[in-house]
Amino acid sequence: MVHDGWMPASSIDFGYPWWLSYGHLAVLVPALGLLILGRARGWAVWPMALFGVVAAWAAAALFVTRSFEVNGVAKLPVANFLASGAGRVLDIGAGTGRSSIMVLAARPQATLVALDLFADSFKGHFGDQGSPRDRLMANLKAAGVDQRASIVAADMRKLPFEDASFDAIVSAYAVDHVGREGASQTLAEAKRVVKPGGEFLLILVGNDRWTKFAFGPMLTHGGTRGPGWWRQRAGDAGFQVLEEGTAPASLFFLLRRG
Ligand SMILES: C[S@@+](CC[C@H](N)C(=O)[O-])C[C@H]1O[C@@H](n2cnc3c(N)ncnc32)[C@H](O)[C@@H]1O
Repeated sequence: MVHDGWMPASSIDFGYPWWLSYGHLAVLVPALGLLILGRARGWAVWPMALFGVVAAWAAAALFVTRSFEVNGVAKLPVANFLASGAGRVLDIGAGTGRSSIMVLAARPQATLVALDLFADSFKGHFGDQGSPRDRLMANLKAAGVDQRASIVAADMRKLPFEDASFDAIVSAYAVDHVGREGASQTLAEAKRVVKPGGEFLLILVGNDRWTKFAFGPMLTHGGTRGPGWWRQRAGDAGFQVLEEGTAPASLFFLLRRG
């Protein structure tokens, strides 16, 4: 069964920008206000129709973003990742800990190394308040999983680990931030550091129609890279695709090192 992701989440702060969760309210509230005002003052049909369409889009888009909840604790999208429940896991591009906590919560016997470069991309996503490392550790502590986690600052394209030193790897919304060559390098490095037969849960920003409906081109991370591109590159790196699917705003692959 896929873990339900329950966590004492009140003090966790993943720090994704507010507009990803609630930005559509900034459109919905004024549009509703104009509709109410227009009705009271008897405005013409066409501006009222326009405000109605905008309000309907903003309400639907808000519903879509609430189904994702980027600042909430995530659920594992697949049941078969590290099904034994134990082992040493690497999180590539851990950020403020959302993907690390997802795995540690669902696999209480596992330990995890949370790796991130903690540089410009981190600041671009999470702002520059406080030390990135401290923010990640604070979230791991708030989730009660810090005793099973350690933090490493490094570039995902050149992992500072011995060959075959992890039982499994997770990466969420990170490998699609380093360009095509960087993604291929990272997949090759992931293959090198995971044990033969080890799994890699690769989660990417999904360019699905709901994400496009809510955000237009703003979340297009993979450029023109679709599922086929990732499947091909994973195969080139030496991974077999065990499962593939989509979740709100996400495309995921469960890979296994051959
Ligand atoms: C969108 S965040 C994802 C964070 C986390 N995995 C999650 O699910 O919320 C992408 C992360 O990738 C990290 N990153 C980007 N380029 C990197 C690189 N070359 N090496 C390591 N981490 C990198 C950024 O610092 C950022 O924290």
